[in-house]
Amino acid sequence: MYTLEEVKAFVYGCKKCKLYKGRTNVVFGQGNKNADIMFIGEGPGYYEDQEGVAFIGPAGQLLTKAIEGIGFTRDEIYIANIVKCRPPNNRNPEIDEMKACIPYLRWQVKLIKPKIIVCLGKIAANNIIDANLRITRDRGKWCCKKDVWMIPTFHPSAVLRDVLKKRPFWEDFKKVKEKYEGLKDEENK
Ligand code: URA
Ligand code: SF4
Repeated sequence: MYTLEEVKAFVYGCKKCKLYKGRTNVVFGQGNKNADIMFIGEGPGYYEDQEGVAFIGPAGQLLTKAIEGIGFTRDEIYIANIVKCRPPNNRNPEIDEMKACIPYLRWQVKLIKPKIIVCLGKIAANNIIDANLRITRDRGKWCCKKDVWMIPTFHPSAVLRDVLKKRPFWEDFKKVKEKYEGLKDEENK
């Protein structure tokens, strides 16, 4: 079994899909290696590509606020993306790119062993939870796979574009907090 650091070192040289050509930095993901909660986005944007850190642009700032709003810091949780290299002009990642990259995310999940996974937006939710999931219809609904609780919510970029998504986004974060507290209580019984 590899460590997270070993997987990361490997991904830094990855050329498994065409996205390697346009990247400035691989954005592996970061946070607590033993996090109880993992947030999964789609792929790096401009700022993330520049710095090699996930969710640090405007969407990332909103995500950080929401995380802190439910009483966590970014250091306590883990943040990663479906693809680790920035798609040109922030287009959606293509099927072959996601297929090439997702094994890295699976490694991350296996090593971090989160209790809760929050899928940010349709791309993450379709890959992690259910290919037929529709985010507006299905956000905020829990499912449990292999002992990991999963919930889809809007992508913070979508929330920035549409104020009407703000409230449901926040409701979903509150559900995450409740679920976390509930799981902790069960553990301590
Ligand atoms: N959007 C994402 O999906 N991921 C990031 O890391 C930044 C913006
Ligand atoms: Fe490799 Fe993923 Fe980057 Fe494609 S997006 S080159 S699979 S790390």
